[in-house]
Amino acid sequence: MRHPRFSRLLLLAALPLVAEGQAAPDPAAVELFVAKCASCHTVGKGPRVGPDLSGAVDRRGRAWVEKFVAAPSTMLDSDPQARELLRQFGGVRMPDLGITVEQAAQLADLVTLCSGTPCDLQGRFTPVTQATADHVALGRDLFTGRAALQNGAASCISCHAAAGSGAPIAGGSFAKDLTHAFARLGDEGLDASLRAPAFPVMGKVFAARPLTADEAFALRAFLDAANRTTGATESVASLPLLALVSALVVLWVLNAIWSRRLRGVRSTLVPRPRQENLS
Ligand code: HEC
Ligand code: HEC
Repeated sequence: MRHPRFSRLLLLAALPLVAEGQAAPDPAAVELFVAKCASCHTVGKGPRVGPDLSGAVDRRGRAWVEKFVAAPSTMLDSDPQARELLRQFGGVRMPDLGITVEQAAQLADLVTLCSGTPCDLQGRFTPVTQATADHVALGRDLFTGRAALQNGAASCISCHAAAGSGAPIAGGSFAKDLTHAFARLGDEGLDASLRAPAFPVMGKVFAARPLTADEAFALRAFLDAANRTTGATESVASLPLLALVSALVVLWVLNAIWSRRLRGVRSTLVPRPRQENLS
């Protein structure tokens, strides 16, 4: 019952208005969605870490969606529909994202609008095919720490390795080798993961020190080049195991060192191996 026939007709009737921009999505809501939601959700382009939100407002009711978006933690264990979603998504918990009641209403409007007419919720996405050799070089320097990240986050190489980084040391084995991350995630998926990492460990590190759009673009250019110019430099078979082991090491280290600061995150870290299956 997502689109009763008469509302389809209404939609068709409204198309000329849409073309004139009268029903265009609120730019502030789009910006908010791109910054806080797009790394885990699309509206009509399939599930990511979380469900495709197309029709979610019809499915759950507006009040439910607004309440959930503003504070998922208050519903994930108690609300039957939220618990069922949590089960479907392998125990990955949508985090509380500091969304106000007004913002939740804006986002519900956006989801409703974009469930009917496709919206561009990718933000200022520049495909990596437009990158130049300079972008690749900058991305390499940002990756290895030769160039500092503007907002002060640790360079990628402290946790990741990637072929073609040209670094004297091999790079961290803390997290996944990123040589073929471009192939795994695709251009848009990589952009979303870099600009708002949904990964428990990396997200915590980058939440307060986000990459700028230019840095994310340069890093994508570098990872695209790494993916294309190198053969199999990683043992694909051992990747899941490596990822699991490094996740456990990271969990253990963070638990030991940052147990006070990260208390709220621990529960999200535990189901990580299941999230791995979804990525
Ligand atoms: C870190 C990933 C992540 C982020 C970021 C995120 N979500 Fe979610 N979302 C999920 C997951 C996973 C679920 C499924 C429930 C669960 O397991 O927690 C979900 C469920 C939902 C649902 C219920 C969908 C349904 O089918 O009923 C809505 C609505 C929703 N999210 C909206 C949002 C909005 C709006 C934002 C941005 C403010 C957002 N989410 C940010 C992961 C995320
Ligand atoms: C503090 C350690 C740390 C730093 C620094 C870090 N990452 Fe990560 N990254 C991780 C971990 C751990 C994961 C696996 C998911 C998780 O648990 O967060 C990950 C996952 C990823 C993924 C997803 C890989 C895949 O194939 O699913 C990408 C892409 C990525 N990181 C890119 C980067 C880039 C680019 C930088 C530098 C700007 C960076 N990371 C810096 C720890 C880090």
